[in-house]
Amino acid sequence: MTLQDHRFLRACRRQSVDRLPVWMMRQAGRYLPSYRAVREKVGFLELCRSPELIAKVTVAPIDEFGFDAAILFSDILVHLPAMGLDLSFEKGEKGKGDGGPKIANPVRTRADVDALTIPDPGKDLPYVRDGVRAIRTALAGRVPLIGFVGGPFTVASYAVEGGSQGFTRLKTMLYAEPRTAHALFEKLTRAAIVQIEAQIAAGAEAAQIFESWLGELDRYDLEEFSFPYLARIAEAVRKAGVPVIFFGTGMGGHLEKIAGLGFDVVSIDWRMPIDEARARLPDVAVQGNLDSIVLLGPREVAVERTRRILQAAGPKPGYIFNLGHGLTPSTPTENVKAVVDAVHDISWK
Ligand code: CP3
Repeated sequence: MTLQDHRFLRACRRQSVDRLPVWMMRQAGRYLPSYRAVREKVGFLELCRSPELIAKVTVAPIDEFGFDAAILFSDILVHLPAMGLDLSFEKGEKGKGDGGPKIANPVRTRADVDALTIPDPGKDLPYVRDGVRAIRTALAGRVPLIGFVGGPFTVASYAVEGGSQGFTRLKTMLYAEPRTAHALFEKLTRAAIVQIEAQIAAGAEAAQIFESWLGELDRYDLEEFSFPYLARIAEAVRKAGVPVIFFGTGMGGHLEKIAGLGFDVVSIDWRMPIDEARARLPDVAVQGNLDSIVLLGPREVAVERTRRILQAAGPKPGYIFNLGHGLTPSTPTENVKAVVDAVHDISWK
């Protein structure tokens, strides 16, 4: 059996599987004691720039929980310094939330957009390529590796707001300066394409596009400011020969449109029953849709909700179990283990 026959890649292609594949967004993160131990010694961006540490933290949850796919440890913002933006990650201060990304020179004007440069992954982000190679060596063919980039709207929200500060400035730019917004999305699209192509060339077997905050836009703005760019990214990944997965939240009103952009897999958050989503998307695979917060509750409830989703998803090939969004830092590892085991216990064969 080659890795191409692995249940995760088969599910992406809507082929039958021996048992349902499961992985979780943010599966390598702060809920894991081994991750926190690494982070006590190195800063977040430093970690993202070390191929050895990238491989270590990417593979840890595969070893510990038996997930059916690994996801490159990196961030959707790692390339922003190469584009000319001064990015840092602040440690959360007491009483001031969780910290998060900060950009000291956010993009506000047409001149700011024109000054952005498209990164050269081989030169500017060699640690991502070397990280992908190191992960593949460490995985030794056990599970496929998912590469990823951020979608243009989501990356722009950080670049324009200067951090996790909502969407008002970016959305105002769409209405006040649509040409500036298009120029920004154009550059972020080209940056996304060269990065994901480099990850695939280095060995990533699938690609996920994180467009986490796209649910902020109405249909008209999606059609004008997002869909054409997403279609180009999806096409570039398909040309590179691996399945392409869309991830967004709050997109229930637009699922068919997203599927029509050329994605192989469409992620569903927790706001819609999985059977409804699958019925609406007969021609793509579907990934999701357990609410991450369920994992903070009693383990029996988490397992029960998992069973309910598996039942609703049904036996038709083309389903990947995942969360509706990422694992949160306070998630008990026992609950993660219980949910993975519950998915694996149910075979649709
Ligand atoms: O899923 C994985 O395990 C792979 C690694 C991964 C990270 N970020 C590591 C990370 C992935 C796929 C991402 C994507 C990402 N980054 C997204 C899209 C996914 C989503 O959750 O919607 C976004 C919006 C970002 C930007 C980002 N990075 C923010 C807003 C923050 C701060 C908020 C937070 O969760 O802390 C980060 C930091 C970050 N990225 C951490 C990790 C493990 C925590 C940093 C730390 O160790 O202190």
